[in-house]
Amino acid sequence: MEKLSISIILGTAREGRDSEKVAQFVLQEVKKRSEIEPVFVDIKDYISGKTSRLSDEQSEKNKKWHDIAEKADGFLFVIPEYNHSFPGEFKMFIDTLFKEYAKKPAAICGVSNGAFGGTRMIDAVRPVLSYLGMIPVSPTVQFMKVNELFDTKGAILDEAYGKKVSAMLDELIWYTKAMKEARKTIKK
Ligand SMILES: Cc1cc2nc3c(=O)[nH]c(=O)nc-3n(C[C@H](O)[C@H](O)[C@H](O)COP(=O)(O)O)c2cc1C
Repeated sequence: MEKLSISIILGTAREGRDSEKVAQFVLQEVKKRSEIEPVFVDIKDYISGKTSRLSDEQSEKNKKWHDIAEKADGFLFVIPEYNHSFPGEFKMFIDTLFKEYAKKPAAICGVSNGAFGGTRMIDAVRPVLSYLGMIPVSPTVQFMKVNELFDTKGAILDEAYGKKVSAMLDELIWYTKAMKEARKTIKK
C-alpha cells in the first residue's frame, strides 16, 4: 500500500527550545508506524521573512515548504505555548501557504513548562488550522513540565507519553487514509 506522507512540524524557532526534544520523541513514535512516511519540518529552516502567500516572489524556503505541504497527506504539529497562544514565527510560517492544506487531517501536540502542557495554545491554534482547511483530529497530546520530562541524553522519562501519542496517531492515520481516498474524487 502507498505510504501516507505526514509532515511533522516543530513550531518554534526559539534558541534553546525544549519542544525540539518533544518533536524528536514524536518522530520516533511515528517511525514505528509502517504506513507513515514522515517528513520532519523545523520551522527555523523555513522562515524567510516573506510571510504572504499573495506575494509573487516566492523565496526558496517558501517553495521548499510548498512542495512538502503539497505532497503531504496529513500534518502533525508540535508547538509550545507562548503567552497562551502559539509562537509568532509559527503563524508567519503557516501563513505562507493556503490551498496546500485543504482537506488534510492535522494532529496537535502542545508543550509547556507548566501543568497544562499547552492546552491554551491548542485551543488557539485549532481554529487557525480549521480556517486553513485542515481537519484537526480530536485527540491531542499535552507535554507538561517539559523542562523535567527528558534526561540529559534526550530520552523521555515518563513512558505514558508513548501510549498517548499512539492513540493520537491511530486517529490521525484513520482520517488521513479516509481523506486521501476522498480527495481522489475531487475534480481538478
Ligand atoms: C515568550 C514565551 C512565552 C511563554 N508563555 C507561556 C505560557 O503562556 N504558558 C506556559 O505554560 N508557558 C509559557 N512559556 C514557557 C514555555 O512553556 C517553555 O518555554 C517551554 O520550554 C516550551 O517552550 P520551548 O520549546 O520554547 O522551550 C513561555 C515561554 C516563552 C519563551
